[in-house]
Amino acid sequence: MSDQSSEQTLSNLGHEDRRFEPPEDLARDANVKEEAYERAAKDRLAFWEEAAERLTWGKRWDTVLDWDDPPFAKWYVGGTLNAAYNCIDRHVEAGTGDRVAIHWVGEPEDDRRTITYADLKDEVSKAANALIELGVGKGDPVAIYLPMIPETVISMLACARIGAVHTVVFGGFSSDALVTRINELDARVVITSDGGYRRGAPSALKPAVDEAMAKCPDVRTVLVVRRTGQDVDWNDDRDRWWHDVVDGQSTEHEPEQFDSEHPLYVMYTSGSTGKPKGILHTTGGYLAQSAWSHWAVFDLKPETDVYWCSADIGWVTGHSYIVYGPLANGATSVMYEGTPDTPHKGRWWEIIQEFKVSLFYTAPTAIRTCMKWGKEIPAEFDLSSLRILGSVGEPINPEAYIWYRENIGGNRTPVVDTWWQTETGAMMISPLPGVTAGKPGSAMRALPGISALVVDEQGEEVPDGSGGYLVLTEPWPAMLRTLWGDDERFKDTYWSRYPGWYFAGDGAKKDEDGDLWLLGRVDDVMNVSGHRLSTTEIESALISHPKVAESAVVGATDDTTGQAVVAFVILREEAGDGGQEIVEELRTHVAKEIGKIARPRQIMVVPELPKTRSGKIMRRLLRDVAENRDMGDVTTLTDSTVMDKIKTGMSGSKTDDE
Ligand code: WT7
Repeated sequence: MSDQSSEQTLSNLGHEDRRFEPPEDLARDANVKEEAYERAAKDRLAFWEEAAERLTWGKRWDTVLDWDDPPFAKWYVGGTLNAAYNCIDRHVEAGTGDRVAIHWVGEPEDDRRTITYADLKDEVSKAANALIELGVGKGDPVAIYLPMIPETVISMLACARIGAVHTVVFGGFSSDALVTRINELDARVVITSDGGYRRGAPSALKPAVDEAMAKCPDVRTVLVVRRTGQDVDWNDDRDRWWHDVVDGQSTEHEPEQFDSEHPLYVMYTSGSTGKPKGILHTTGGYLAQSAWSHWAVFDLKPETDVYWCSADIGWVTGHSYIVYGPLANGATSVMYEGTPDTPHKGRWWEIIQEFKVSLFYTAPTAIRTCMKWGKEIPAEFDLSSLRILGSVGEPINPEAYIWYRENIGGNRTPVVDTWWQTETGAMMISPLPGVTAGKPGSAMRALPGISALVVDEQGEEVPDGSGGYLVLTEPWPAMLRTLWGDDERFKDTYWSRYPGWYFAGDGAKKDEDGDLWLLGRVDDVMNVSGHRLSTTEIESALISHPKVAESAVVGATDDTTGQAVVAFVILREEAGDGGQEIVEELRTHVAKEIGKIARPRQIMVVPELPKTRSGKIMRRLLRDVAENRDMGDVTTLTDSTVMDKIKTGMSGSKTDDE
């Protein structure tokens, strides 16, 4: 079994037997009822046809699923649609153009923008016309590197509207990460901004793009949104202000209908090997499932609900549950630019109070941070508008679930723990709030139309009460179609472990009732604050530093971030024996190579690394060392007990890694 499943023990005790039934009113008026499970079980494809009927199609599909050449799926074959039209125009045409699509909240207080569906139609049409003027056409990749501002949503939808393929790069990623993505996709246009507001001050984005441009010779235009007004370097041949190019465009743009399988976007994510994977999502299936799941799992009533997902748009959660799902459903959303503690630690709860947010979606790491700050903080605000709380990104420990439900949800709101991945495109395992009881720490069961199993090494389903690996046994509409330009890696990574089934890379257990508990990754992927990082990618970054001879990276349990990056390095002789300076230098180096989120919490300089006889690093042992609470801030491995521990481990010949 997983060598990481022990992470789930993180303050797990004392809550196993709690169970919350759906509130009666919610059960009565729920968008999706128990019968959906039975209907989907009887005829899965008919179920997904019905979900797709919630969208507006140019031409209806002929065949719901083509699975003749697995693992390459085609959904709603022969159908045509426009994702932006579905997210915007059809709501305007239906008479709800005056409904607010986005209540945008900037980090500086009193910074607000209210964008109705009619406004969004104008803005997206203008941006679409601007992209066309810049020579962007159907199928062309566009890189987007922006903070949490409305132009991010507008840019994505403008791409979708003209059939261009967006790739949003999280603003926390480095210039080098940007280079890899731009060059792999061959993007010729990049959309960025001077910066955004973070932690009470303007932070810059354009310098990272400028730096990247030295290594991206084919980029012809960098479109720059002015958000903060800070000074930027300017290249007259390449850089254009958004307001110069977009503002004067016509608000008329006729959306074209694209094939259901037309590429919508590529989102890069870390895998268990060094190179990030470009996950390809296409139009029809992705939109159908992200919209359906958002409507079902949040029981969305678009006329009355106010929905807020606190994720960054640079991650898949933002794509599916800030942009495509909610907008396709005609929802009113809040979008917030900044951090939860600026200018004070009650900022999120103040926003919920101001906009009467009824549906809130965040990550366990944020909940644990708020727990640390204390329940007195949310208690100062009126949170009575909330009806459903969601969690995503990592296992939610029962204690955090209970705290969230009690202190944010006033002990009335169901908590939906939603399991999914960049690859799945949309939620896969989650309670339905009007149907499924909630158990703290459990994502409960696969959504209607989704087939998940927990299996052992041989692929046999494990009995209730046991653990194993999570697999998805049937294709689903929002599934990734391939890895950009690498069908072989797509097959190897996900479909070879259990032929015919999708291997999620997660450990899971079924409790005595058969409900599912997701336990975290079973591969070399870490989950830090709900963000996916690859141990090998960070190891490669460390080794690329001239002073490092060898490195090993592990995800150590962390009370707030779930896991934290801890690195062990062997220095080259000429680097001397380490010390705090080199540790800082290496941390900065990783931040530069990958991004700040990958910067190790701790780096230990060691004389050797424990390895198995076959030369594999014994990560489990290193994780034990990294999790040793007594170590405090010691970053250099001079502590002999630690060394002893490593040495003892090295002399043992049997390990699970072998
Ligand atoms: C990995 C996917 C889904 C969008 C955000 C992360 C972990 C995600 C849960 C959950 C336990 C979860 C898994 C998964 N994960 N949600 N509710 N319970 N684990 O997307 O970056 O692609 O990461 O996040 O380990 O494989 P991602």
